Amino acid sequence: MSSRTVVRGGLVVTAADEIHADVLIEDGRIAALAAGGTPAAEAWTAERVIDATGKYVLPGGVDVHTHMELPFGGTFASDTFETGTRAAAWGGTTTIVDFAVQSVGHTLREGLDAWHAKAEGNCAIDYGFHMIVSDVHEEILAEMDLLVEEGVTSFKQFMAYPGVFYSDDGQILRAMQRSAGNGGLIMMHAENGIAIDVLVEQALARGETDPRHHGEVRKALLEAEATHRAIRLAQVAGAPLYVVHVSAMEAVAELARARADGLAVFGETCPQYLFLSTDDLAGPGFEGAKYVCSTPLRPREHQAKLWQGLRTNDLQVVSTDHCPFCFTGQKELGRGDFSRIPNGLPGVENRMDLLHQAVLDGHLTRRRWIETACATPARMFGMYPKKGTIAPGSDADVVIYDPHAEQVLSAAEHHMNVDYSAYEGKRVTGRVETVLSRGVAVITEREYTGHAGHGVYTPRSTCQYLS
Ligand code: URP
Ligand code: ZN
Ligand code: ZN
Ligand code: ZN
Repeated sequence: MSSRTVVRGGLVVTAADEIHADVLIEDGRIAALAAGGTPAAEAWTAERVIDATGKYVLPGGVDVHTHMELPFGGTFASDTFETGTRAAAWGGTTTIVDFAVQSVGHTLREGLDAWHAKAEGNCAIDYGFHMIVSDVHEEILAEMDLLVEEGVTSFKQFMAYPGVFYSDDGQILRAMQRSAGNGGLIMMHAENGIAIDVLVEQALARGETDPRHHGEVRKALLEAEATHRAIRLAQVAGAPLYVVHVSAMEAVAELARARADGLAVFGETCPQYLFLSTDDLAGPGFEGAKYVCSTPLRPREHQAKLWQGLRTNDLQVVSTDHCPFCFTGQKELGRGDFSRIPNGLPGVENRMDLLHQAVLDGHLTRRRWIETACATPARMFGMYPKKGTIAPGSDADVVIYDPHAEQVLSAAEHHMNVDYSAYEGKRVTGRVETVLSRGVAVITEREYTGHAGHGVYTPRSTCQYLS
């Protein structure tokens, strides 16, 4: 039995177009678009009609960087796949790609199986996995090929966190060489962790223990250096490269230079780097702990260069790096020693709204908003046009967005399982009203109507942004 929904009267915004059109949804997919009032659109009958007059009709957000339940610093990110994907839906995101973790001494398969077990049956929206590779050797390299074939087509490596996730340059080069052959995409956490650890030790020895010192030791130059090194290693390997959570303007410059030289290097930034700064990290008392993440927040002057990078396409994607830890009991682990504060910020629910505010503030066009938050992440990680656009045949992951509604972001209002908001008190214009995931309403006029287990695992093809 077919089920049909028609979304009438909205402005359909994709990366390519803005058109006033009605949208027909059939059996969980976009069936057709037609100008409202035309005979074609008038002829559609459906069980459900959604009136989107005065609203935007957007592809569901694609957040390709989340860490539900991530083990870090002796604790776990506070959102489970259930709570985190529900919050994502509230914020207009209908697909996440989370990071499965290979622990040292274990296979990729063991890590991936463990993450499937955490997610399966619990997600409100669709999900895929990247693989964090923490231990590169011959057997693991061979396993990478198998993962690419079954839809885990991207691998994160860390130049930071020695002794935990860290890979040395040889391990990175080997993984890049392998990905050059199997079509996988290496995602790099580019910070010189060896040098940072020296600076951490020296800072603590001087009695510099407050959260703001986290930002001081994790220097922009050490992000830029690692970004440069990752680019050259990828160039030597003949592999494409995707640099995650870019926060330093010097790192943007490295990406821009490499791209001008014709290299296939890509970069992602996150709302926290666009809207927050070291001013937040230097908050009174221990408040700054709420803003400890890596790469760290930077001084305000970096923001303009990040926005510029997003406009010039030297940065292609905005994801959240959602990795929440409660202030009480989790961030507090680092009282008296900033290096013990679990790294990460909540944000999976806020990304679409913050970027809409950026449209109103003149940083991005509406289409670029959708391109950086929906279409390009889907293409970069092999899910397009199933995800990331509104076109016949695409999954009916659709957001009805009210561009005029005002809201104040706060922990009291959000749905993420964390006891603070990184954007507490921030006023934004624009709000998600209704969200469809494969045609099923998971948010209906500001009510949660989804359920755990609706979201399904989404295997991915290799990067579609290279061709
Ligand atoms: O501080 C962060 N970003 N925590 C999550 C882990 C990572 O490096 O992405
Ligand atoms: Zn990282
Ligand atoms: Zn991350
Ligand atoms: Zn369902």
